[in-house]
Amino acid sequence: MRDRLLAAEKVKAIDWRGEALYLLDQRSLPFDESWLAHTSAEAVAQAIRAMVVRGAPAIGIAAAYGVVLAARVRKAAGGDWVGALEEDFALLADARPTAVNLSWALNRMRDRLNRAKARADVLHILEVEAVAIHESDREANLTMAQLGVDVIRRHQGNAQTVLTHCNTGALATGGFGTALGVIRAAWLEGMIEQVYADETRPWLQGSRLTAWELANEGIPVVLNADSAAAHIMKTKGVTWVIVGADRITANGDVANKIGTYQLAVNAMHHGVRFMVVAPSSTIDMELASGDDIPIEERDASELLEVGGHCVGAPVQTFNPVFDVTPADLIDVIVTEKGIVERPDTAKMAQLMCRKRLH
Ligand code: MRU
Repeated sequence: MRDRLLAAEKVKAIDWRGEALYLLDQRSLPFDESWLAHTSAEAVAQAIRAMVVRGAPAIGIAAAYGVVLAARVRKAAGGDWVGALEEDFALLADARPTAVNLSWALNRMRDRLNRAKARADVLHILEVEAVAIHESDREANLTMAQLGVDVIRRHQGNAQTVLTHCNTGALATGGFGTALGVIRAAWLEGMIEQVYADETRPWLQGSRLTAWELANEGIPVVLNADSAAAHIMKTKGVTWVIVGADRITANGDVANKIGTYQLAVNAMHHGVRFMVVAPSSTIDMELASGDDIPIEERDASELLEVGGHCVGAPVQTFNPVFDVTPADLIDVIVTEKGIVERPDTAKMAQLMCRKRLH
């Protein structure tokens, strides 16, 4: 199946061209496909904050390239340039708080830097590491897609109607996608009858990005308001809810796009299976439970405005953009190291001891 998945890789959001990091501007999709060049850590951090690039794995990859760009700038300035890089690491780490892939990628870059400090070719070593982070996410996507398809096949076989939330496809990762990667692979295997895509208020990742990615591939997608999800589960024969993750804690709790938690509650009520697909770079074994995850709150304008026009009454707002789904609502977590059914602390610890499967 791997070759068929590779052949189906069409969209990409991150393009490292050596002299600069090019990011497909996700704010203007689906109508305008424009690429923005970034040559400094400041520019990359700003792109992450502003959602030019978004999705947990993608922001980790972008941050890794941000370190390479920062090292070039600092080295050219001379002095204790390696020490000065700490400011860039901090700037990039602060860009968004919830997805742990960001600090995971930065920690990998820092470790590599610490091991290479004395070497003349440290810039090259950092670039190789950033490319390796990007490539390993791409590989993880392919493995997860195959494992996810196996899980679906084991439980119910063909003609699945699935519901997904946010965007977890090529735009959110280094390759094929996480949750959307499983859905795309299942489609290639002839197992998908219908995909329902939540529009994903307030930023509309579902209507602007997921619907675009699926429609481009001819995968049958129906767009729905987030508030229609329970009704769809009750009336449309949904067999699986399949979502990604921004941080999974040691007990298997999952932070993902706001609205995921209510999907899991509804899925449990309607007997619909609930799958989370995420690379191990999304797993944070330092946090005991989802209660400890920092939840990003974004600007009121995301709620009060549509397309730059004010549509809401000017009242106080609350705009948390992630929520936490407790482990006991999750049927299976799919990672590139393997799957965890009915996750708990012991099973998560066991998973993290394993090597990658491919
Ligand atoms: O705010 P976003 O668009 O960065 O949020 C993205 C999500 O919540 C995704 O579901 C998650 O990052 C998994 S992406 C493979």
